Amino acid sequence: MKKYFVIGNPINHSLSPKLQNRWLKENNIDATYDKIKLEDHEINDFIKDIKKQKIAGCNVTVPFKKKVIPFLDKLSQEAEKTQSVNTIIFDKGDLVGHNTDISGFNAAIKKLNFKIKGKKILILGAGGVVPSIIFALKNMHVQEIIITNRTREKAENLKFLFNNLKVLEWGDLTDFHMVINATSLGLNNETINLDFSSLGHDKLFYDIIYNPQETPFLKMGKQLGNTTENGKTMFVYQALEAFKLWHNMVPKVNTDTFKLLDND
Ligand code: ATR
Repeated sequence: MKKYFVIGNPINHSLSPKLQNRWLKENNIDATYDKIKLEDHEINDFIKDIKKQKIAGCNVTVPFKKKVIPFLDKLSQEAEKTQSVNTIIFDKGDLVGHNTDISGFNAAIKKLNFKIKGKKILILGAGGVVPSIIFALKNMHVQEIIITNRTREKAENLKFLFNNLKVLEWGDLTDFHMVINATSLGLNNETINLDFSSLGHDKLFYDIIYNPQETPFLKMGKQLGNTTENGKTMFVYQALEAFKLWHNMVPKVNTDTFKLLDND
């Protein structure tokens, strides 16, 4: 039986096994999908097992999306550009790293009633998922991307990957049409210490976090009269793209798919 995994640290919160196992069952694929917590020094051996086909493939989450790259043979164009891999496949003897976070974010934005072209976007955070968001936003022809991160240097480093980014000191704010929380603040109900109250309403507050469904950041955005959206659709569609890469099939996405992820 083929074995798939999602690797990360921490990994307990991941809902990937729930979703992937549902789709495996629905499509009568004889395979399993589990989560596994790894330490840095264990990545190499784990990935060697994919090369030996003891493991069929894996998803990669925080903090390994960049760290897995040296152990792979090839990268997709998106993974190369973002230096971020969230899906590993075995293809004709090669270990190939893909980035499906980008298409996940694309799909999520397309499903919103929000014309993103020409808009000003503020991103909070500069961690693992941010290069994928910037890549997607650039393809959507947004007007401006502004990054603010507690550790300013990490935001500045994104300029090595992308042109025309503006970096703002953590704590400072500027006007925007859409703000994206890409920090880990909210995973455990933490608030974000930024004051959005003077910036007006009718903006889009988007959180990459999907579990819990409504972070304090989204609650605050709603209270101030803005539209809000969590990261669930992005999560489902990045998973769908990974499923397609491994199994050459498009799994079903319907209200049940989303309900499955509601029990948090
Ligand atoms: P990594 O930084 O290892 O890629 P991540 O979960 O992808 O991990 O990113 C965490 C993000 O949340 C980072 O932008 C981090 O800011 P720093 O780069 O300064 O660490 C941000 N973050 C985490 N805790 C935070 C806090 N208490 N206040 C502000 N930002 C925080």
